[in-house]
Amino acid sequence: MRVLVTGGAGYIGSITTEELLKQGQKVVVFDSLQQGHKDAVLPEAVFVQGDLSDKISLENVFQSYSIDAVVHLAAETVVEHSMTDPKKYFHNNVINGINLLDSMLKYNVEKIIFSSSAAVYGEPVETPIQETHPQNPVNSYGESKLMFEKILDWYHRAYGVKYISLRYFNAAGASEKLGEEHHPETHLIPLVLKCALNYKTEKEANKKVKIFGTEYPTNDGTCVRDYIHVVDLAKAHILALEQIDELGARVYNLGNGDGYSVHEVIDTAKKITGADIEVVFASPRRGDPAVLIASSSRIKEELGWKPEHKDLESIIQSAWSWYLNHPERYSR
Ligand code: UFG
Repeated sequence: MRVLVTGGAGYIGSITTEELLKQGQKVVVFDSLQQGHKDAVLPEAVFVQGDLSDKISLENVFQSYSIDAVVHLAAETVVEHSMTDPKKYFHNNVINGINLLDSMLKYNVEKIIFSSSAAVYGEPVETPIQETHPQNPVNSYGESKLMFEKILDWYHRAYGVKYISLRYFNAAGASEKLGEEHHPETHLIPLVLKCALNYKTEKEANKKVKIFGTEYPTNDGTCVRDYIHVVDLAKAHILALEQIDELGARVYNLGNGDGYSVHEVIDTAKKITGADIEVVFASPRRGDPAVLIASSSRIKEELGWKPEHKDLESIIQSAWSWYLNHPERYSR
């Protein structure tokens, strides 16, 4: 099978590509490199630099390579940014996604795995969150992902497109070769580890981690998230591709079912790195729900998904090892 991975030079996309290659699949990565890194694309994959807004280069890919299925990860993904620039989120996550679907229709590609998000639920009314939970996003990022899920369903009903939407909770950790590197970095675990690195190397020892909000209705007042190892997440795409023919149209949560507060993440990182990570308290970020914890029983039961790195310590340890073993991270 030849799989087109949009956003395949990004954090989750590159590691999903790595897993697909391990399975012996052929992969074409399509990425604008606005956020992704050329170095994150393994040499066994074909790389095409392009943007989903550019219909000509998109169609060229379908024309040049016989694509059997698409894994669609290219997106704007920063919750806080989506509160101040929703235009970007609707253009890139919805309109560009429609360009992709239309090219698929034109070239008779009928299978797509979509990288959706826990952000489609908004503030939970029940925890752990099941797929049937009401969907009321509190940020435009989540809204854009939900809109595209609905569009997928209409393309399924009208044109027979087969889709599986994977609603990721908080992806974290690294594989041996590939890890997380955003510019600018906004995610908690890489920020905490970079702070530990600075401490260790004493380059910028004055860097502190900001804790956004300390009065949430949680045990210690900080937000609680469900961190899932990025390799476990990537493997779910393989299972989804294997079973999409029988399923046709399905939505799955992907998380571990355990919630950790911001304080707990920082304490675990301190233990692993041995660094004295300093914190400062800051106002809550706009658009942040207090608690997001997944029920992933549906994907476990239906696709046989089993997370291999469930505990926060091994997730953070893998990210830390990647930083230590790749001091330059990505140069391009
Ligand atoms: N946080 C801090 N300080 C920081 C960064 C984050 O306190 O410097 C807090 C946030 O307020 C949040 C938690 O740490 O409560 C996790 O924040 P991240 O930025 O790491 O991740 P988010 O929960 O905001 O978002 C991530 C993905 C989204 C996805 C969401 C689903 O980036 O794409 O998880 O749970 F939708």
